[in-house]
Amino acid sequence: MSSEEKVAIVTGASQGIGAGIVQRFLTKGYRVVACSRKIATKSQPNLIEIAGDISQPETASRVIETARERFGRVDTLVNNAGAFLPKPFTEYTESEFATLLQVNLGGFFHVSQRAIGEMLRQASGHIVNITSSLVAEQPLKSVPAALTAITKGGVNAITRALAIEYADKGIRVNAVAPGAIRTPMHSSDTHVFLAALHPMGRMGDIHDVVDAVLYLENAPFITGEILHVDGGANAGR
Ligand SMILES: NC(=O)c1ccc[n+]([C@@H]2O[C@H](COP(=O)([O-])OP(=O)(O)OC[C@H]3O[C@@H](n4cnc5c(N)ncnc54)[C@H](OP(=O)(O)O)[C@@H]3O)[C@@H](O)[C@H]2O)c1
Repeated sequence: MSSEEKVAIVTGASQGIGAGIVQRFLTKGYRVVACSRKIATKSQPNLIEIAGDISQPETASRVIETARERFGRVDTLVNNAGAFLPKPFTEYTESEFATLLQVNLGGFFHVSQRAIGEMLRQASGHIVNITSSLVAEQPLKSVPAALTAITKGGVNAITRALAIEYADKGIRVNAVAPGAIRTPMHSSDTHVFLAALHPMGRMGDIHDVVDAVLYLENAPFITGEILHVDGGANAGR
């Protein structure tokens, strides 16, 4: 199948990494269903934008049904929507615990389950999860973020689990684990500090993560991979 016929779903698409992934897929000839809570609905023939909270099963159903009804299939799902809430462990509230679980795990679970249902019918598909290198795998003493660690670490684990579960069904499951990326998630006054966390001495740019997603998308013998895009941070200090 040529990329002109392929259909991708991207969550967390209104800004930052998700918006970059949407634009790259459109450039490559994909038809795209993009979702986030506050997305502006633009009219483009190959792009459908859906406003909704992806942590809710109803939004996940709407996203998948729209892809199927308007574009006929689901080839690729990029689970990009995510929340980051750094603070000391004992200061997290019950409500913050529920929110992080809903967005980072529920936002992955509901739409992935429905997408895999479509992919099984097609006997093909690819899921890419945007997780985290620094917080999930190289915890920082100076930036405690345990609820991001437990949720993004969980998505790293399920990436490998689902890759194995569906390896013989034509469905690949991979992850991109970014270091600190220059997006609206980080205010500019933190950039010097964040740049120094990477052996390369700089923050990542959105295109660094987008390149990794597209690399995995075009790598048919790769599944269960967690691709670190972090200027060497995962390798050491
Ligand atoms: N930037 C980094 O340094 C970094 C590092 C490691 C991992 N990551 C991960 O990369 C992903 C993208 O990060 P980013 O830096 O691009 O973040 P961002 O600029 O804050 O953008 C987050 C996107 O997710 C959407 N979103 C948040 N909660 C949502 C929900 N419940 N339902 C639907 N959409 C939701 C937001 O749109 P709405 O507000 O319109 O919903 C927005 O489009 C996240 O999963 C993040 O954890 C980022």
